[in-house]
Amino acid sequence: MNTDQLDQLVETILASPKYQYICRDFVRNVGLQELAKRRNLKEAVKATKNKLHQVGGAYLPGKMDYTAWLAELGEAKTASQDDFRRACVRILNHHASTRERLPFLSQFYPTILANLPPVRSVIDIACGLNPLALPWMGLPTDAVYYAYDIYQDMIDFLNEFMKMAKINGRAEACDVIHACPTQQVDLALLLKAIPCLEQVDKDAGIRLLDTLNADHLLVSFPVYSLGGRQKGMAATYEDHFGELVTHRDWSVKRFEFSHELAFLVNK
Ligand SMILES: C[S@@+](CC[C@H](N)C(=O)[O-])C[C@H]1O[C@@H](n2cnc3c(N)ncnc32)[C@H](O)[C@@H]1O
Repeated sequence: MNTDQLDQLVETILASPKYQYICRDFVRNVGLQELAKRRNLKEAVKATKNKLHQVGGAYLPGKMDYTAWLAELGEAKTASQDDFRRACVRILNHHASTRERLPFLSQFYPTILANLPPVRSVIDIACGLNPLALPWMGLPTDAVYYAYDIYQDMIDFLNEFMKMAKINGRAEACDVIHACPTQQVDLALLLKAIPCLEQVDKDAGIRLLDTLNADHLLVSFPVYSLGGRQKGMAATYEDHFGELVTHRDWSVKRFEFSHELAFLVNK
């Protein structure tokens, strides 16, 4: 592999406004794959951008105005808990994955976590804006929350959010395919993440399930495509998840919501 070409690819991509906040390691890892597959640097840059869009940008439908959102959250917080939740909802609308969960957000965590002992630590893998759903998770006030995604600006925002909401947590920009967090936690969230990560590495799903050091894993899959089509996705993902856990001695509970299929795994 020509490292000059890889460096050039990474710099070209990070210079473009749309990709400037994606963590360097992830651009590098995707770029390395594409350079190996494409005929030249130009084609590899284009293919890398396409992949980054597919697994990241496609979920962000508009401008992510983190500064304004922090101001909005701050104001709402001083007004009331209800105002704060309403502000969270408005912001959760800005990521396709959490937007789709909003109609059943108030049932999602209480239903799935109902029979677990208190969850005192959580890892949220490929989190998007999901940490803003913390007010609906029902965690004890001293619970620790670790969140990971590829966008540095989103991560900075989530850290400010957690500070403001007095959540004992930390968000970090990282490529979870190549750097899976390994700290021990009660619960790991892999919400709608596996299909996305497997577009970059087909073994990413099973590796994460095996490596995450969590008593419980909450794994979910979308039922509709980003374009709104159903195409038998629930059945396809259910089969796929079945294959992933088939030789593991884990107990699994299934939960179905209008737009999301979830599995709670007891490792
Ligand atoms: C389908 S969304 C799921 C978001 C969130 N888990 C939820 O369900 O609300 C996939 C997320 O994975 C992130 N992502 C993609 N590849 C990643 C990687 N290699 N490491 C960490 N995050 C990644 C994207 O930026 C996006 O926010």
